[in-house]
Amino acid sequence: MVKYEFTKSLETGNAIIDKEHRELIQAVNKLLEACSEGKGRSSMDETIQFLNNYVNQHFSHEEQLQKQCSYPGLPAHRAFHENYKKTLKEITSKISVSGPTIIELGNLNKHISVLIAHIKTEDKKLGAFLNQS
Ligand SMILES: [Fe+2]
Repeated sequence: MVKYEFTKSLETGNAIIDKEHRELIQAVNKLLEACSEGKGRSSMDETIQFLNNYVNQHFSHEEQLQKQCSYPGLPAHRAFHENYKKTLKEITSKISVSGPTIIELGNLNKHISVLIAHIKTEDKKLGAFLNQS
């Protein structure tokens, strides 16, 4: 099973964002664990719900921070978040209904890589901006 790790390359320099990214990665790992250990449906659904809620909450925190400092990249960043949440919901709903098939787990892992890439680029830009404003 792939396990994600919060490494230095993911640090944005903003303590709140970094803390939430750490927890987000933990939530992802919990879901992957529940999938690979063939845990019961209710335990898997719980981790699915937690991950979706956490992502929603974290994204809205990031958007609040951007609003507060009049971040020029907010519209594009928000559009990314909206799309991301929608796709995450779709993938995790399929996992919840049909179980963690290889295809859906592949889709989930791909979608997590998209988030990691977003953290390394867009969230880092945001962290730098927050630090100088
Ligand atoms: Fe973000």
